[in-house]
Amino acid sequence: MLSEKMIAIIKSTVPVLEVHGTAITKRFYQLLFASHPELLNVFNHANQRQGKQQAALANAVYAAALYIDKLETILPAVKQIAHKHRSLGITADQYPIVGQNLLQAIKEVLGDAATEEILGAWAEAYGVIAGVFIQVEAEMYKEAEEQQGGWAGYRAFRVERKVRESSVISSFYLVPEDGGAIASFKPGQYVSVKMDIPGEANTHIRQYSLSDAPGKPYYRISVKKEEAHHGDPAGVASVYLHEQVKEGDMLLLSAPAGDFALDLEDSRPVVFISGGVGVTPMVSMLNTLVDLKSERTIAFIHAAHNDEVHALKQQVEDTVKQAQHAKAYWCYSNPVAPDAGDFHKEGYIDLPWLQEILPSKEAVYYFCGPAPFMAHINQLLLEWGVASEDIHYEFFGPKGSLEEE
Ligand code: HEM
Repeated sequence: MLSEKMIAIIKSTVPVLEVHGTAITKRFYQLLFASHPELLNVFNHANQRQGKQQAALANAVYAAALYIDKLETILPAVKQIAHKHRSLGITADQYPIVGQNLLQAIKEVLGDAATEEILGAWAEAYGVIAGVFIQVEAEMYKEAEEQQGGWAGYRAFRVERKVRESSVISSFYLVPEDGGAIASFKPGQYVSVKMDIPGEANTHIRQYSLSDAPGKPYYRISVKKEEAHHGDPAGVASVYLHEQVKEGDMLLLSAPAGDFALDLEDSRPVVFISGGVGVTPMVSMLNTLVDLKSERTIAFIHAAHNDEVHALKQQVEDTVKQAQHAKAYWCYSNPVAPDAGDFHKEGYIDLPWLQEILPSKEAVYYFCGPAPFMAHINQLLLEWGVASEDIHYEFFGPKGSLEEE
């Protein structure tokens, strides 16, 4: 337990550290990778470049510090991060490394303002926060390993089938090389894929949502090829998967993880809304309900630029037909003539359209897509009066805030 005095010091310094947040975390990563270059194999360099990871780490540390005397308040946020850590294979012995470098970065950036007393308080606080993470993650490792078909660390999977789903998205059907069982998962969860890419100095790890229902002999991921765009370079991992990985090749996977999951106990109507490759966890949820012969009313709404880039369209249409009460709706922002394909709305999803196609706002909503898309959907639903506890969404990449979009 931290003393009252330590808690007071931590809380009084949070605002100061927040002001210097980006400088501290930027310096932190420089120090971390200089002293432990092996960690370059674990972090996603694209997230680093865009500054998303720095912001996510800083926000998490400050939030934890703010609630240092009642950490149970932020347990849901801890669990969400811990899922990611467990999926990546982060271990307890890496926490002191992160702690030392974070402290050093605080010291360097704050200069004279970082007194021995302040640094001492932060060292203690970090120890408490890290202790919570380590404990939550230890339970998750145990669970992943002990469940039927589960495993710890990374396991070799063979690409049994590779299927083109649109001009930019391909599915990979993955079966375990050892021929054993595979763990079930909650629809909405993801796996980490670890790749040694020819010509790359470091190993790359990426998370991909599972895009089919659990209970199959394979896991399916559906990956968008990230081309260079607006000054961002092409995605190393997705280009590798699309251009080089072929049927019969091996990929390393960690067991399914993530706290974005369909509540299967709920029997209320459910609305799935996706933009672009955000369709993947939504298809997993839809397929699961249909496999379970659910009687729930389902609306599956997908936004894409046009028919060409619209992945899994035929599959969703076929699945919806098998369901008892389900409908699918397509919204294209930029349909291409002359063969524009079948769609229900041109432009962007808006409230009048949602009100027209949905019988009422009384439903539970799950959505996934690019951050600005999700911010838009979130705002529409709140405007309509949907309760925030009925709104669930998943960020691809480090979690951010929809309000900031
Ligand atoms: C991801 C916080 C310790 C490695 C994250 C994220 C947060 C976070 C907020 C983003 C999660 C998301 O994707 O939404 C923390 C906090 C820590 C801590 C508060 C200490 C108390 C560690 C340690 C390691 C580590 C010890 C091991 C080296 C990573 C990696 C990612 C990550 C590799 C994924 C980053 C990426 O996508 O590039 N962490 N973390 N973290 N964390 Fe931690």
